[in-house]
Amino acid sequence: MKNILVLGAAGQIGSELTMKLREIYGNSSVVASDIKLPLSEALSQSGPVEKIDATKAEEIALVVKKYNIDTIFNLVAILSATAEKNPLLGWNIGMGALLNCLEIAKENHCALFTPSSIGAFGLNTPMNGTPQDTIQRPNTIYGVTKVSGELLSDYYFTRFGVDTRSVRFPGLISNVTLPGGGTTDYAVEIYYAAVKGETFYCPLNKNTQLDMMYMPDALDCAIKLMEADSSKLVHRNSFNVTAMHFTPEEIYNEIKKHIPSFKMEYRLDEMRQKIADSWPNYMDDSCARKEWGFSPKFDLSLMTIDMLETLKSKI
Ligand code: SER
Repeated sequence: MKNILVLGAAGQIGSELTMKLREIYGNSSVVASDIKLPLSEALSQSGPVEKIDATKAEEIALVVKKYNIDTIFNLVAILSATAEKNPLLGWNIGMGALLNCLEIAKENHCALFTPSSIGAFGLNTPMNGTPQDTIQRPNTIYGVTKVSGELLSDYYFTRFGVDTRSVRFPGLISNVTLPGGGTTDYAVEIYYAAVKGETFYCPLNKNTQLDMMYMPDALDCAIKLMEADSSKLVHRNSFNVTAMHFTPEEIYNEIKKHIPSFKMEYRLDEMRQKIADSWPNYMDDSCARKEWGFSPKFDLSLMTIDMLETLKSKI
């Protein structure tokens, strides 16, 4: 990776991935782009910024040529719960951006990273130890776009040799930019409530177990996969990756170890519950570990210490 373009740099992953890429590959080598400017001060002052609507191919192509881009991180997506409220928008944004990226990557010989998700699985997928290669019949439009994206990306690799790579991210927990509109957002919001001394109203029931990952591991994961030796990759689109799995009750109890007065009540969000019930309890990520050395560092307890410390100094 020499010249990198991040699409969706203002989002939950993009805001941190862009900074990390700039740290590694040099500020001027990483172009941050989003549909809306200005970006945060950190992003706009540390390197090049371009306004791009990723559903418009010509806008991406112009920037790819201008900066001689060789790697694209396509982080454009509408998360699960928001997409469910406006399925056509979810499809048009997710697939529109991806198809444009694939075509531009093909023409300009770029490598392309596009995250997939635990949302790419559905009710008839094995829920425990979900295998790398298994049934993928998701019940949400978000999941439908993710599976379609996995298939299209593999097609562009086998048919045209485009270097497409992807991981199925679990719920991502971070302290810089809020996710917004996902089913796993509660696992971020709970920390903010705890630090602010507020009661947390949990939208999922207490037994809902889901895979999760702390953002520093997610960033390492995306970069490590893009740097991996392509001859070692048996799979491409997309690898199961997970760092931990827990229920609302378990994350609540972990936070209470540090803030004993913290209170949580359940206020079910039916749509989110239905979505969460169709996703794995925990995935088997042995292929990612074997094929490119995926190895996350944060478990629930380490992540909780770091989240609480960081948010305390931020809020
Ligand atoms: N975090 C996403 C969501 O909840 C799943 O990939 O929509």
